Amino acid sequence: MSATRVSTGIPGLDSILHGGFIKGTNILVLGGTGTGKTIFCTQYLYNGATIYNEPGVFVTFEERPKELRLEAKQFNWDLRALEEKNKLVIIDAASSKASIPSDEAYAIHRDLDMNILAQEIYRATRKVDAQRVAIDSLSAIGIKFEDSTAIRTSIYKLSTLLRELNVTSVMTSEMPYESGQTSRFGVEEYVAQGVIMLYLREEDGELRRSLVAQKLRASSHSLRRYPFEVSSRGITVMPGGGL
Ligand SMILES: Nc1ncnc2c1ncn2[C@@H]1O[C@H](COP(=O)(O)OP(=O)(O)O)[C@@H](O)[C@H]1O
Ligand SMILES: [Mg+2]
Repeated sequence: MSATRVSTGIPGLDSILHGGFIKGTNILVLGGTGTGKTIFCTQYLYNGATIYNEPGVFVTFEERPKELRLEAKQFNWDLRALEEKNKLVIIDAASSKASIPSDEAYAIHRDLDMNILAQEIYRATRKVDAQRVAIDSLSAIGIKFEDSTAIRTSIYKLSTLLRELNVTSVMTSEMPYESGQTSRFGVEEYVAQGVIMLYLREEDGELRRSLVAQKLRASSHSLRRYPFEVSSRGITVMPGGGL
């Protein structure tokens, strides 16, 4: 029996992934700044709720919820309307990081504590019966920890919680291009069941976007690079890619 697939809500991506993400798994989206990680998360949750009637939870560490709602508007994604219909919860983990008080219903009010974060995710997931969760980004969690063992433990805990909640989740992380590491802590890709890498590179004097989807433990020679674009409709992966 083949695994149930969850549509990514990103045109062109499902077919690359043989129908979408495997239901209940935890996918890591890696990329540098400006590669489209936040848009990816927002589109996954917005289209998930509006097209597939799968409510979602967005844990935002980088942008405050009001910034996220504003940015989503340029793609005609009305996050507020989804929140009012109990199709989306945004957990504000960004304000406390910036030492700004949060007036959001779901927020981490003090210094980031993994147990409190886990409780908020649990509460939010139960509230809307979420099928999808996005965490943007894990890199932000690293700021609070000095030693890499604590970071690994935290990421592992988070990933285990997400699987226990039986949601299909996306976690983002910055990817340093310069070093040999493929992710910031060198651990995220081991706790995730799939990795999508987003690239923004100069080719022939033009900035081009592309993505590589990597199934864990799959042979590396099966990896292909697909061009994608960001437009007023969000991310669209080009058909016939695979350069
Ligand atoms: N309406 C739009 N049309 C085209 N490109 C856009 C639009 N809105 C944002 N972008 C592009 O999306 C990128 C930002 O995406 P984002 O998801 O915030 O990146 P990340 O989270 O990886 O830093 C920027 O490079 C910006 O140029
Ligand atoms: Mg971002």
